[in-house]
Amino acid sequence: MKSSKPKILFLLVAILILCHSVEAQKNTRQNISPADQIKIETLMRQMTIEEKIGQLSLFASGWDNTGPSMNNDYKKLIKEGNAGAVLNAFSVDYVREVQKLAVEGSRMKIPLLFGYDVIHGFRTIFPIPLGQACTWNLKLIEEAERVAAIEATAAGINWTFAPMVDIARDPRWGRVMEAAGEDAWLGGKIAAARVRGFQGNDLKSENTLMACVKHFAAYGAAMAGRDYNPVDMSPVSLYEWYLPPYKAAVDAGAGSLMTSFNEIAGIPSTCNAWLLTDLLRKEWGFKGFIVTDWTAINEMVNHGVAEDNKDAARLAINAGVDMDMEGSTFLNYLGELLNEKKVSQARIDEAVRSVLEAKALLGLFEDPYRYCNKTRQETEIMTPEKLALARKMVTESCVLLKNDKQTLPIPAGVGSIAVIGPLADSKGDMLGGWSAAGEWEKCITLLEGIRNKVNGKIPVVFEKGCNVNDADKSGFEKALDVANHADYVILALGEDREMSGEAASRSGLNLPGVQEELAEMIINTGKPIVVVLFNGRPLTLTRLNEIAPAILESWFGGTQAGNGIADILFGDINPSGKLTMTFPKNVGQIPLFYNSKNTGRPFNPEKPDEKYVSRYLDVDNDPLYPFGYGLSYTSFTYSGLEATLSGDTVNIRAHVTNTGDRDGEEVVQLYVHDKIGAITRPVKELKGFQKILVPKGKTRTITFILTRDDLAFYHPDLKKYWEPGEFIIQIGSNSKETISTSIFLN
Ligand code: GLC
Repeated sequence: MKSSKPKILFLLVAILILCHSVEAQKNTRQNISPADQIKIETLMRQMTIEEKIGQLSLFASGWDNTGPSMNNDYKKLIKEGNAGAVLNAFSVDYVREVQKLAVEGSRMKIPLLFGYDVIHGFRTIFPIPLGQACTWNLKLIEEAERVAAIEATAAGINWTFAPMVDIARDPRWGRVMEAAGEDAWLGGKIAAARVRGFQGNDLKSENTLMACVKHFAAYGAAMAGRDYNPVDMSPVSLYEWYLPPYKAAVDAGAGSLMTSFNEIAGIPSTCNAWLLTDLLRKEWGFKGFIVTDWTAINEMVNHGVAEDNKDAARLAINAGVDMDMEGSTFLNYLGELLNEKKVSQARIDEAVRSVLEAKALLGLFEDPYRYCNKTRQETEIMTPEKLALARKMVTESCVLLKNDKQTLPIPAGVGSIAVIGPLADSKGDMLGGWSAAGEWEKCITLLEGIRNKVNGKIPVVFEKGCNVNDADKSGFEKALDVANHADYVILALGEDREMSGEAASRSGLNLPGVQEELAEMIINTGKPIVVVLFNGRPLTLTRLNEIAPAILESWFGGTQAGNGIADILFGDINPSGKLTMTFPKNVGQIPLFYNSKNTGRPFNPEKPDEKYVSRYLDVDNDPLYPFGYGLSYTSFTYSGLEATLSGDTVNIRAHVTNTGDRDGEEVVQLYVHDKIGAITRPVKELKGFQKILVPKGKTRTITFILTRDDLAFYHPDLKKYWEPGEFIIQIGSNSKETISTSIFLN
């Protein structure tokens, strides 16, 4: 009979390891299986300190650098067990080749994470996240991230550096294109939808992706909108207006988090123990692992809080960072720091365990090549269904900013169309920033989308007119000529894709180059004209808004940009997008946002000449287009607003009537003003929304429920309190146009 000794021995070892790891379980994520826990604890006992430290380093493959290059021989590092993850590498063959170096070439054979910036799609590129936010369609946003996860995992990737959830109130900052706009409450809803889309219900599934919420924290509040600049604000502001989306992503189960480059009140996030350990891990209960942004540890020497890279590594690991992106500081110095007792073995083990847990959750120990399925790569990318979803997202992300004399939709009987402007036929720009593995060649431009739509039945002529950002006007004459000979003109203006995104702050937000002059010249022809905007941030369009009959904001719509925009222009789809970031009249008004404070001397529009009030001498306080704003081809009126108390909740009801001649979707927005508070309250705060279809001529009744928690706010002790008193309830089509009622809560 075969001896049963080995089995008993294995069982004893397993029980011993599980008991021993009780301490470790304090930080173990809830859903690490016992088998994976045994695997992890076995690895922890077998690894040398060098191999443990190796798990805490993330290196860029040679395929793409999204930061200052550190020129690492990542393949050598992997074989030596000095890398736990690789970024910017994809495709099944390449990932399999690199994974093999770890799984078959290194001593411990621990599989790698493969991370990539899948920010708004992998190969099928969706509109930039700021555009997606303007759909106010959480289900659609989640579906888009699901598609992104399916495509990215079909190409070997198992980790995305997304969602980027930084709140921003300053459009000079180029990275507003990656985020959801200025409102923390809406930003939190969108952040959670993105995490759900990426991670699905089972991270071990071959088509789910581990999320990495970023950039923690408050990166969007960089002074003067200049990227990487310091952030400095009151703790109450940080909690109230910037932290909620990170918390929402953590609560949605994001498997990892990325620290931000910036300091907050003098402490760089990457060495901020309060932020990363006290708040994130202890108060919020975050169980994932923390990776830095690109060389953010090294940059603490520039920040002036670390003597050198070794000192920076000490600060970062002890603050709670688990993985060093591209900086080699953990690799080069953690061993010395351990010997010098400047970092504990326990802290290093905790970091290593958090990385191994992520690999276990992704199923990499069961099958390191789980994401290297060639059949998936050949069959699941850029399918017609995924392209159709991208096109739907384009139509819902477009925001109709102006439509005088019903210029839009383009009349059916139009005889000829002139398409003019530097963004009309620019495939590459349709991708926008952070476009992952998007293929510019496969993008549908506005010109192509229009030609697809008319299908040869209407002549469409094109003249570029000018470039995006130079002083060359040599194309003006031809552009004017085609405009004069056409029945209808479409002007495609805006920024190029490099003018927003990382390291792309602008001090001025006008249309670049000579585009405004081109627009003025073409609009002066008196033809029916629509300006279609391509941009990654709010722009200052005051002059354009005065002279253009119609303006459609299309952001950068991605692979299906032209087709989706054409659906709107020709009226096949009724626009429903609403801005999630304020468009100022000029840069001098910035920061300008809807949930502002009343001040002690509020400007009163009924007393425009009052001197000693909060105002400018040269411009009013209003935005050009407010938060929540967007027109439709139909019109909606609001009536019958009622707010009633039942116990501790406020029941709100109102009617929305479609007074136009076609069906339309309306984003009904609920705002609340808490009139009196222990600290000043914003003039209004978004507390709910519903995107509803209202058939022409019909009325729909919508209801909301608000709880005391919904009405609570942070006090200087950084705890949330609800206060009795009067609340002004506002319902409307945007943050400026609402009907209101008040209610008293005791
Ligand atoms: C960049 C970005 C970050 C990105 C990372 C990896 O510097 O700040 O958002 O995820 O590097 O590309």
